[in-house]
Amino acid sequence: MINDIKGRLNQIVNPASGKSFEEEKRWKHVSLDGEKLVAEYNRDGISPSEKRAIEGEITKSLSDLLVIDNIMIKTTSTQSQDVFKALDKQSEAPAPIVATQPAQIKPGHGTIDKKKPVPGVDKIIAIGSGKGGVGKSTFTANLALSLARQGKKVGVIDADIYGPSLPMIFGKREEKPRSNSEKKIIPVESFGIKFMSFGFFINEGDPVIWRGPMLGGVLNQFLFDVDWTGLDYLLIDLPPGTGDIQLSMIQNSHVDGAIIISTPQDIALLDAKKGLEMFKKLNLPIIGMVENMSSFICTSCGTEHHIFGQGGVAKAVEQLEVPFLGSIPLEMELRSGSDIGVPYMTQEKFNDRLVWKAFEEISCKVDSFFKPKPIDQGKNGFFSKILGLGK
Ligand SMILES: Nc1ncnc2c1ncn2[C@@H]1O[C@H](COP(=O)(O)OP(=O)(O)OP(=O)(O)O)[C@@H](O)[C@H]1O
Ligand SMILES: [Mg+2]
Repeated sequence: MINDIKGRLNQIVNPASGKSFEEEKRWKHVSLDGEKLVAEYNRDGISPSEKRAIEGEITKSLSDLLVIDNIMIKTTSTQSQDVFKALDKQSEAPAPIVATQPAQIKPGHGTIDKKKPVPGVDKIIAIGSGKGGVGKSTFTANLALSLARQGKKVGVIDADIYGPSLPMIFGKREEKPRSNSEKKIIPVESFGIKFMSFGFFINEGDPVIWRGPMLGGVLNQFLFDVDWTGLDYLLIDLPPGTGDIQLSMIQNSHVDGAIIISTPQDIALLDAKKGLEMFKKLNLPIIGMVENMSSFICTSCGTEHHIFGQGGVAKAVEQLEVPFLGSIPLEMELRSGSDIGVPYMTQEKFNDRLVWKAFEEISCKVDSFFKPKPIDQGKNGFFSKILGLGK
């Protein structure tokens, strides 16, 4: 079958030149693993609209051989920052002074220099969970707001390709990011938080090009091709899970620390442990674990119910020797705030509630994680050691 596939791929025509991919020797790599096809071509000189047309042609021409979700099309380019060749023909025109161009991103683009710090950002924090639905996005958005309440400048990248939800949580579903005269994407701003989301760029009908390890390159574009000037913290809401996608997204990015979210259930904890292992494998400093949906406080009788079990995360962190950042109880308004685009931590009226306090406490711990630690004066401290009192 692979020969048949290659034959068809060679016939694909580059609309920019009218020549076939075979003539232009565009194919870099074509491989079939079981039912899954990975095909990579050189996209130099091909604009995003031409690229979309090409990928449509590829899928069409293989539709009788492969399931659409099993076709992964990657691109490479010899031009480093050609995400904005998006605007190829227009980019010849004099650059406008203000933001006027729709921003575009380019999946499949290779990674940029390894571990390069992001201009304008002091600390980058990755937020992960072993499994979906544990409240990672809710947590990320409200942690950002809580850090902002402490006077920090905060940005968020919604890197969750499976279910980007920050545009909804921040009430900016209809927003279309634009790029500035330096060809940088301008982050969308809501409640003082700058953010960028896959949700702004993904259409329901984009499954082929938008899923797969090549998304690592897109996170790099979100880090380096977005104007993040002036941030103390940039939080990254990663896709749930601990697989290749998550790994490839962060392994080449400069990340200063990681937070893992879990619910107290055994199964969620098990996954969270895997998440922890993943971050450790990448040598990322672990800021700590957070227990979400820790309990439910009955609104009529005030009794606390531990729906998903009690204190599981606190016990796990002991075993795993990572800091425990805190527990966030279940609260209806935390969910409804996200649903209506007015996040919980923007609603001052909740400031005496447990959830509010939990976010305040956690954000303080996160912030102090990066502060220089006071010199240990205890029995294992410097003076004790030179006096021979320590272990
Ligand atoms: N402590 C909480 N109390 C009440 N509702 C919560 C709480 N935490 C999260 N939720 C709700 O649970 C649902 C899942 O949360 P969220 O989308 O943040 O999870 P996620 O881990 O990002 O999920 P996904 O894996 O789909 O990205 C949402 O409806 C959210 O509003
Ligand atoms: Mg999410």
